[in-house]
Amino acid sequence: MEYHKPVLLKECIDGLNINPEGIYVDVTFGGGGHSKEILKHLTTGKLYAFDQDEEAVKNKINDERFVLIKQNFKYLKNFLKMYNALPIDGLLADLGVSSHQFDEGGRGFSIRFDAKLDMRMDVNTKLTAADILNTYSEEDLKRIFKMYGEVDNSGRLAYAIYHSRKEKQIETVNDLKAAIGKCVKRGRENQYYAQVFQALRIEVNKELDALQDLLLQSLDVLKEGGRLVVISYHSLEDRLVKNIMRSGKFEGEVEKDFYGNQITPFKQITRKPITPGDEENAENSRARSAKLRIAEKK
Ligand SMILES: C[S@@+](CC[C@H](N)C(=O)[O-])C[C@H]1O[C@@H](n2cnc3c(N)ncnc32)[C@H](O)[C@@H]1O
Repeated sequence: MEYHKPVLLKECIDGLNINPEGIYVDVTFGGGGHSKEILKHLTTGKLYAFDQDEEAVKNKINDERFVLIKQNFKYLKNFLKMYNALPIDGLLADLGVSSHQFDEGGRGFSIRFDAKLDMRMDVNTKLTAADILNTYSEEDLKRIFKMYGEVDNSGRLAYAIYHSRKEKQIETVNDLKAAIGKCVKRGRENQYYAQVFQALRIEVNKELDALQDLLLQSLDVLKEGGRLVVISYHSLEDRLVKNIMRSGKFEGEVEKDFYGNQITPFKQITRKPITPGDEENAENSRARSAKLRIAEKK
């Protein structure tokens, strides 16, 4: 089975506006689909890639212009400094999990397979989805399901988990389904479980914290005219990307100088996000929620 089909491939490459001699970073290497295409556009340039998943690292590309770093991208700046790679000409992030991670039944990312509720992208970290379900307070469970999954009845869901785990710990996908089955609206099962799983995955991998770290560091590592290209897959991610590209901050108004001119670190190349066309959506179900935003460092 294909490891992962790259989403919005041409649009990302166009967005990076590649200088064949430049230095590029793909912070979400996965199956390497985007990385391989970037390499095709380089002559003497270099590509650094990050992925925190041991499985992804097995897809390493043999090319002397390529370096793969098995690390969380929240350490971007330190590692690029270590490799003497700063400043860079462009950064690509294709967030979330790969199809391979979903399809690998044993890791607990997907509702389709009964497995231990793990969901760690980096197996060297400690917290698993089962730990969250069995140890978080009812209040914290409610918060993560509401915030990260936009689950309507997050209070009822948290209550069901909290009470069910007193009888029996929730260790597997089927344990979780049994514990929360009553909270699910008929006919909406798949969507509901997808929201629950998304929330757990975001919390396990601290995905929004890592994204914020990455976006702030992108300001330091990109050279003037360098491109930031990000594909996100849900509204919480997209909001962070949109705000940083618009104002250089995650919240609040755009700052202005004495004359009323906006002071922003990026020029937005996309005002509205680019989304896949019907053809790509038909071929690749993972493309459906993708939103691509591009900005240029001033
Ligand atoms: C959507 S996939 C990328 C697919 C890739 N663009 C391709 O064409 O094959 C996301 C990848 O990023 C990795 N990832 C997600 N968050 C990460 C983080 N904070 N640090 C490092 N890698 C991360 C995941 O392990 C996964 O392999």
